[in-house]
Amino acid sequence: MDLTTTYLGIPLPHPFIAGASPLSDDLDTVRRLEDAGAAAITLRSLFVEQLDAEGLATHRAMDSIAGASAEAATYLPDPDDFRLGPDAYLDHLRRVKAHVAIPVIASLNGCRAGGWLDYARKIAAAGADALEVNLYDVVTDPERSSAGVEEEQRKIVASVAQPLDIPVAVKLSPFYTGLPAFARHLQRAGAAGIVLFNRFFEPDLDIEALEVTPGHTPSHSGLLLLRLRWLAILRPTFTGSLAATGGVHTVDDAVKAIMAGADAIQLVTCLLRGGPARLTELRDGLARWLEAHDYDHLSQARGSMDLAHCPHPAAYRRAQYMRLLQTWSGE
Ligand SMILES: Cc1cc2nc3c(=O)[nH]c(=O)nc-3n(C[C@H](O)[C@H](O)[C@H](O)COP(=O)(O)O)c2cc1C
Repeated sequence: MDLTTTYLGIPLPHPFIAGASPLSDDLDTVRRLEDAGAAAITLRSLFVEQLDAEGLATHRAMDSIAGASAEAATYLPDPDDFRLGPDAYLDHLRRVKAHVAIPVIASLNGCRAGGWLDYARKIAAAGADALEVNLYDVVTDPERSSAGVEEEQRKIVASVAQPLDIPVAVKLSPFYTGLPAFARHLQRAGAAGIVLFNRFFEPDLDIEALEVTPGHTPSHSGLLLLRLRWLAILRPTFTGSLAATGGVHTVDDAVKAIMAGADAIQLVTCLLRGGPARLTELRDGLARWLEAHDYDHLSQARGSMDLAHCPHPAAYRRAQYMRLLQTWSGE
């Protein structure tokens, strides 16, 4: 079965990539991922706030301006709390590149302008095959409009991607009002692909201690549904690469992500739980599934259920919602 795909202009033998996470921290694990057949590996993110000595202090100050209490701002980690500082990150990237032959994708995570490009250039010089830019942000300031935030993000992507000689993917959070137009703007700004979606680590409340605590729902296949919808909506109009991240645990999940339009599938929790061997199982399982359903190659399945090709495109839109509400029968 021909599982080949192209992600960010990089030819891959199949779509399964190790996503950004601690999986890439340890060289032995990195090598085991390669041995298990990972098509590429994404390093954990370096936070852009780590890039200059004042970055975290600035972030604290901006959080305070945005209405967060000074105490809340102390939630930000100290420089020593980060797993890798900027220099160590580049050293680690060089070591990973020296140990494996598969493409290595570095990751920068930030939401404000400044400091990106110089460091992105160092990442490229250290040998990264691509850069994933994670724009995770939680906007609490009522003066920052959606259009304003999108324009800031577009400018960040343009400032990093245009001068860089390696491809840039943008990892987005799910809640944009007009995602197809924004994705197109990002592509025009130089993004070679979009990664759908960040998982929000949602805060919970401890009602006895009156504390905001980190809420954590372990990853499960149900998370994939949000990704499927937006992959399917973006696929017909977005000409760059699309990667799914979040909720891929089984062969069926992978088939769905491909049919919705993914060029690549990032795995994290399923590998953290089951080890690199899970990647081999999913790759081989995908090949068997396609063969059993009379496909000759993966590209025949890709996008076959997107908004332009599925039999009932209304199901991705408002019609499905109206139908569900009107036909509810008490269950
Ligand atoms: C322990 C852990 C660490 C992660 N670190 C990063 C990171 O550094 N950068 C990033 O963009 N995403 C990070 N993620 C998010 C993953 O890349 C992925 O998008 C998310 O876990 C959803 O995929 P999954 O359902 O396969 O776990 C992390 C996830 C986990 C569980």
